[in-house]
Amino acid sequence: MTAGLSTARDTSSVASIVEFGNAEPLAADLDRIDAVLAEVYGPPAAGEDLTVPEDHAGLRERLAVAAPRSVALAERVHRTFADGACGIVVRKLGLAQLEIDAQRRAMFAFAVLMGDVTFAHPVDDKVVWDVMDKGAPQTGAPKYSSFSENDREAEYHTDASFAINPDRYFLLYSAQQADCGGGQTFLADGRVLLRELDATSEGRDAVRVLSEVKLPMRVPKAFRRGGNAEDDGYMYRPLIGGEPLWRFRKDKVDKGLVAKSDKVGAEVRDAFDVVYRHLVARPDEYHAVIPTDGVLIVDNHVALHGRNGFTDSRRHLLRIRFHRAGTDQTVEADAG
Ligand SMILES: [Fe+2]
Repeated sequence: MTAGLSTARDTSSVASIVEFGNAEPLAADLDRIDAVLAEVYGPPAAGEDLTVPEDHAGLRERLAVAAPRSVALAERVHRTFADGACGIVVRKLGLAQLEIDAQRRAMFAFAVLMGDVTFAHPVDDKVVWDVMDKGAPQTGAPKYSSFSENDREAEYHTDASFAINPDRYFLLYSAQQADCGGGQTFLADGRVLLRELDATSEGRDAVRVLSEVKLPMRVPKAFRRGGNAEDDGYMYRPLIGGEPLWRFRKDKVDKGLVAKSDKVGAEVRDAFDVVYRHLVARPDEYHAVIPTDGVLIVDNHVALHGRNGFTDSRRHLLRIRFHRAGTDQTVEADAG
């Protein structure tokens, strides 16, 4: 039994990924949501400019009165997570007829009802992040390297993996799905993954190493505030165990293991390779396109996620990350 396994919830009788529809279109809440946002942020409150609220609980209280359909859905999602799901797909929110910024405002309100939202990027404190292929920052330059700004495959990872307190949850609302056959999202339940690894001696050894050894992960400059990084620009944490159950970001780990080869031995590289090989060889708990007007909500402390590449440049998701209500740790928490 490893540190990671001992803290994992038992999922043997619970579906990792739960899908359901939503009978009540959230668009019907929007006028009253907009009125609340205008009161709190000042009119006009554009969805793309909404920042982390100064008073999470106060805004949540106002929205709870103004947006009954969103409240009902948030409560159902909370219950489903409490029952052991690590990912929830709601196939239709009833926002498809709205323009994109109205969709941002509706999803912002829903996320505030779910928890304490965090900023998407430390520079501007904005909460709603547009996930789409943004091309190149300038003519002749390479495309953006972050998963959320290009059209390439995003390997299995957890979000904010190099933050002290990675966000507990994130949501991806699909404003426009990819229709090219790509852009499929995949999820692995980290608790199931640990059980599988525990079944072989090689897997058990790998989990033990990654639960004990503090691996170096390079922290991007913009995210080093709040004590996320040591003086050398790296954070040192075990990848498995405790809260979160998993931190996982292969490219950052790869870089760290090369740059700090004097500090970590070959057994760490081997352990990481065992886990990664197992992860990509197993069937995913979820592997599908998030349908247009659907949302995927993920427990980022338990599930690993990724997506394959796509060529349909219309693909457009909205991402919002959040902590459990009352546990905002924005200063330390946002990255990746
Ligand atoms: Fe991600």
